[in-house]
Amino acid sequence: MPLPLSAIPPRLNDNDPANAVCESAETLALLARRRSSKLMHLTEPGPTSAEIDALIELAARVPDHGKIGPWRFVAIEGDARARAGAALAEAIKTDEGVDENRLGFVRDTFLRAPACVMVVSAPQPNKKVPEWEQQLSAGAVCYNLLLAAHALGYAGCWLTEWQAFDQRAAKALGVGESERIAGFLYLGSPSQAATERTRADAKARISRF
Ligand SMILES: Cc1cc2nc3c(=O)[nH]c(=O)nc-3n(C[C@H](O)[C@H](O)[C@H](O)COP(=O)(O)O)c2cc1C
Repeated sequence: MPLPLSAIPPRLNDNDPANAVCESAETLALLARRRSSKLMHLTEPGPTSAEIDALIELAARVPDHGKIGPWRFVAIEGDARARAGAALAEAIKTDEGVDENRLGFVRDTFLRAPACVMVVSAPQPNKKVPEWEQQLSAGAVCYNLLLAAHALGYAGCWLTEWQAFDQRAAKALGVGESERIAGFLYLGSPSQAATERTRADAKARISRF
């Protein structure tokens, strides 16, 4: 059962006191236990538009060198899911070997989950902040959005798939030439319990200089 939006503290204003530390056993448990859901296990209800906006507000509170905000969000929810899928299908319909089956699958891209947020990396030319840092900030936004969704009570997953790497798909979804799709965050409620996946051995990847 998702928490009410009133559980999210109000947005801070510039220079308001914030938390340099935030001891939280619940947050540690979230980090130690959260899992993405498979797309096919994301079912209704998904987050409402107001909840999506609130999740985005939380997601955008990431480290962002130079306060550039080098990312933007496109909510694909409700009827827009079919329209966005149709735009993707239109973009590939004349490709060799594309048949009605494939077009149907592509048309349903965003209908596979109750809601989706496309996170767009939108780096700005900046003398002090390399593009790489701005792209990393977009990655942080994606994960923050997933964590926020889990904490509010929704399941989700961060996918890219072909449509994140295809120029025509990007154009069809309104992504500019200087932008890149960092991810599609699909959101909903879990139809199945999650189980742990094999994890990279973090210890084996630690060295000390
Ligand atoms: C940038 C990025 C793109 C991803 N794209 C896909 C994808 O296209 N298809 C897929 O099956 N998993 C993809 N994944 C993997 C899933 O999001 C996820 O990592 C995996 O299901 C396990 O997630 P968990 O550790 O949150 O449980 C991607 C992950 C990242 C970080």
